[in-house]
Amino acid sequence: MRVVRFHELGGPEVLRLEEAEPGLPGSGEVRVRIAVIGLNRAEANFRLGRYIEQAKELPSSLGYEAAGVVEELGDGVTGFAVGDRVSILPTFSMNDYTVYAEQAVVPAAALVKLDEEVDFETGAAVWMAYLTAYGALVDIAGLGKGDTVLIPAASSSVGLAAIQIANQLGAVPIATTRTAAKKAALEQAGAAAVVATDEQDLVTEVLRLTDGKGATVVFDPVAGPGINELALLTARGGTLFVYGSLSGQPTPFPRAAVGRGIALRGYVVFEITAHPVRHAKGVEFVLAGLRDGWLKPAVDRTFPLERIVEAHAHLDANRHVGKVLVTVG
Ligand SMILES: NC(=O)c1ccc[n+]([C@@H]2O[C@H](COP(=O)([O-])OP(=O)(O)OC[C@H]3O[C@@H](n4cnc5c(N)ncnc54)[C@H](OP(=O)(O)O)[C@@H]3O)[C@@H](O)[C@H]2O)c1
Repeated sequence: MRVVRFHELGGPEVLRLEEAEPGLPGSGEVRVRIAVIGLNRAEANFRLGRYIEQAKELPSSLGYEAAGVVEELGDGVTGFAVGDRVSILPTFSMNDYTVYAEQAVVPAAALVKLDEEVDFETGAAVWMAYLTAYGALVDIAGLGKGDTVLIPAASSSVGLAAIQIANQLGAVPIATTRTAAKKAALEQAGAAAVVATDEQDLVTEVLRLTDGKGATVVFDPVAGPGINELALLTARGGTLFVYGSLSGQPTPFPRAAVGRGIALRGYVVFEITAHPVRHAKGVEFVLAGLRDGWLKPAVDRTFPLERIVEAHAHLDANRHVGKVLVTVG
């Protein structure tokens, strides 16, 4: 089979397509023939050595999220059969399992069966984005009618998922993007308002949009010095989630968090996926959204596996709106 590996840390060009023997599924594991891979910023950061965990050894493969067909079951696996159409969810460490390959051995616990009407593209695009947004907005913050959620870097796959979930819950999503280039796309995606932060004053705009109160929940993947403004824009007693570090800069503790009594909280989707009951509720939320039709992952572009370097370069260029996918086979 073909597998993507990197032998050194670095830019997209370190990714190589290599031949390898497909693995045999061990106890509790399943081998899946991959149809579509969903790319995430996490993998770009893992490749760079800037993720929340480092590759323990090189060469390393990578990848969290994919969809395909069950090919072989390991001992003790129940609830799945050869030929089942499945999604692979990001519930493991990339030092233990990876999915950038034609075949991948993963834990059975990472699989969810796909209904016939859900295509592999959707099956590979939906989980990281929607489970991440669900965990913060629904499971932890209990967002509801009348709440406002401020979503920085809203053109990311997680940001777009947060917009759809907020609308579904009756909350008001305010999106940010750096330039006006993605403004129309974000409005079309359901943002009640979009602030282009390089061109507009974020604090003035959000205070105007929220009658001076700020947002009940702020869901931020950027961090860095901008956290001071976000704290000023979090409603008194509200929650400011930090779930990424796109800025790459140190993040000060914002003084406004004290005066406004806000909860400043780090967040990672594994809080949800590692907890069986919360995970099951999140999976059901996403499956119900797919069935009811309100949950639709936005796909920006699809590349074939042999163009994986280009696919990662596209991700790094930040011109995308939504998910970047890779088709296999
Ligand atoms: N904690 C978790 O469990 C979890 C789970 C999933 C993802 N994440 C994190 O969430 C973030 C988004 O992930 P993703 O895969 O959905 O991202 P993505 O699709 O790669 O989107 C990134 C978007 O963020 C904006 N951006 C990039 N660099 C920025 C910067 N320095 N300052 C402000 N905005 C910037 C850009 O939008 P504009 O060009 O429109 O500004 C870009 O299109 C990443 O940091 C990722 O690591 C965390």
